[in-house]
Amino acid sequence: MTSVIDLPYLDTALTVAERVEDLIARMTPEEKVGQMLQLDARDDLADHVLRRQAGSILHASPERVRAAHELTDRTRLRIPLLVAEDCIHGHSFFEGATIFPTQLGMAATWDPGLVERVARVTAVEVSATGIHWTFSPVLCIARDLRWGRVNETFGEDPHLIGELASAAVRGYQGDGLTDPTAILAAAKHFAGYSETQGGRDASEADLSRRKLRAWHLPPFERVAREGCRTFMLGYQTIDGVPITVNDWLLSDVLRGEWGYTGTLVTDWDNVGRMVWEQKVQPDLTAAATAAVRAGNDMVMTTPGFFEGALAAIEEGHLMPADLDEAVRRILTLKFELGLFEDRRRPAPERIEAVVGAAEHTALNLEVARRSLVLLRNDGTLPLPTGTTTADTPTRETAGGNAPARRIAVVGPLADDAQGQLGDWAGNSGQAGWIPDGHPRHLISTVLDGLRSETPDDWEVTYARGAEILELAPDPEGDTFPDGQPRPPVVTPAPVDEAQLAEAVAAARDADYVVAVVGDHIELIGEGRSTATLELLGGQRALLEAVAATGTPLIVVLLASKPQVLPPVVDEAAALVWAANPGMRGGQALAELLLGEIEPSGRLPISFARHVGQQPTYYNQVRGQHGDRYADLTQRPAYAFGEGLGYTTTEYDGLRVAEPRVRADGVVRATVTVRNTGPRPALETVQVYVSDLVTSASWADQELKAFRQVTVAPGEETVVDLELAAADCTIVDAAGARVVEPGDFELRVGRSSRREDQLSARFTVVG
Ligand code: NOJ
Repeated sequence: MTSVIDLPYLDTALTVAERVEDLIARMTPEEKVGQMLQLDARDDLADHVLRRQAGSILHASPERVRAAHELTDRTRLRIPLLVAEDCIHGHSFFEGATIFPTQLGMAATWDPGLVERVARVTAVEVSATGIHWTFSPVLCIARDLRWGRVNETFGEDPHLIGELASAAVRGYQGDGLTDPTAILAAAKHFAGYSETQGGRDASEADLSRRKLRAWHLPPFERVAREGCRTFMLGYQTIDGVPITVNDWLLSDVLRGEWGYTGTLVTDWDNVGRMVWEQKVQPDLTAAATAAVRAGNDMVMTTPGFFEGALAAIEEGHLMPADLDEAVRRILTLKFELGLFEDRRRPAPERIEAVVGAAEHTALNLEVARRSLVLLRNDGTLPLPTGTTTADTPTRETAGGNAPARRIAVVGPLADDAQGQLGDWAGNSGQAGWIPDGHPRHLISTVLDGLRSETPDDWEVTYARGAEILELAPDPEGDTFPDGQPRPPVVTPAPVDEAQLAEAVAAARDADYVVAVVGDHIELIGEGRSTATLELLGGQRALLEAVAATGTPLIVVLLASKPQVLPPVVDEAAALVWAANPGMRGGQALAELLLGEIEPSGRLPISFARHVGQQPTYYNQVRGQHGDRYADLTQRPAYAFGEGLGYTTTEYDGLRVAEPRVRADGVVRATVTVRNTGPRPALETVQVYVSDLVTSASWADQELKAFRQVTVAPGEETVVDLELAAADCTIVDAAGARVVEPGDFELRVGRSSRREDQLSARFTVVG
């Protein structure tokens, strides 16, 4: 009898393809169906592994990862498990891991190099803990800001998303799958999931194929080229067809046109939901048949896929060989990761050495600093930490022991450590094993940051001042029909007069008031879209009351996504946006307010003035009748690309080197960036293109390139810009991406606002 170790698929001298074929040839239909299953490790693990023979698990605490491998070793073929987790902005649910700013926060850095380093560090931490696969990055394009998952995106622009997502993929996948610190990346959610109706999560996406090709697909195509090993499918239907069975998208475009050979995973119970929620399949047998035929490889958390697919085989709807392509892809990943030789179990010494390591914390601080966007400043910032001068306001407090300066820190988010981390972190709700969140001492809140960063003779006082929300059970019941919990219903918290009075007293008695307001986890995430974008609860009253004291008001908007800000913020001394800035966010914010660092973040997404303006993304298609409402402009409150520094810059002398360029040529231009202020600038030079006449309606301008340059005070630098004419495309009425010869405008500047840009013409000749 052949002993297990003599089996060819265990022979490392054979090629991966040979090993895969040998193993597939030995597998029963049950084993093949099981390989395609990814099940929730918080449920009955023994049943998952021993009966359903699952190929993958997700949401496994380290203990359950170990237990699952032991169970696998008791199966007939001992096929190792792929262990997956949502490590979204760091190792989300591993206690003490480095939690970075959210994807939207990282996007505000506009720095692919930084994003790649974040993903690398994340992979180093994640791989040590026995996880092989992260469900990151998100490539959805932010559209309606009411959508609960805007924070998970890289913002609203396909080019920026493509660049940052590719960087993340490179970071996660390291030097290739044999690298023990590499983890599989998953580009998600393929494709069009963010095109919601009214911002409501996972609604039917009203998308044409042309619109998909125009905006939603390019970032995915970009990471496919980058070698992203897996794609996750979205929840939504398009034109009546769930993505899970969208043959055009999966077969024609992804596998066909792009030649993508990676592995597809459905989203959570996509196969089951076709039966019980979308009601487009009569039962799991039919749903499993459709999912296999459409080319899905791994089926996430539909345990009944096992019985459904086997019944489909039994009844002749599927042949066992129909599963081979999917099983082949999954096994290939496992062989390439070397899991048959080494399960890559949680490694205590590596965990000790790398999780939350000092250099990771240092990178986290660097990213947090770069993620902050200064949106308003009347000159109050940076706060003057030097000696008092005539034009720096002081408290009127007299007496020898009075502090040199007093800062009143107010707001419900000023000292909310877990809330600051945002979604997919600690106790945000998706994994239950760290109910108290990440260790408090690893997190610097804004209050912590100001207490530690202000000079010794300053005093920092604190009053919470307001609550944001209250929760009530959903009247429709505690759970959805599949047993998943329904999020509670949010109502705004009432204004608490006593709390408010305390904050007002603190503000009155201070030289500056720093108000930290925004949103909170109950308003963020999957199934938690918001009908409004306003600051909820007592926050507006708090801002108005502290502003009325006359003490200069600095608003720190700690918000997962753009909010509609009340008029009082337009009068505030300063406004800084921090999109869930991670564990070191408070320190970074304090450093920024105190001028220890330069503000350099730029908006990866536009801020609306009113929720009724949705959508507000900058690259909308040219229409008729202008775009304003009778009662409101359509201009955003803050536009894509905007962000201030503590210095001023001027752009000058945009020149296109050769104004006539062939369609396969390169547009070369230069622009001078001058630092006209007193402090260093890290400038993000943004390059937009406007195709002046197009055969089908198109966006007036699109970001095509960007460069970051540092310019010392009083200096100037000539920035070289380059752009392939082949990138100056539109998607024509037939759905083809083409360069249409003719006149273009190159628009270069500090934001997407026309008044912030210089322009120069060039012509593409056919
Ligand atoms: C559902 C989410 O949509 C997806 O982004 C996530 O990766 C999976 N659940 C797994 O948790």
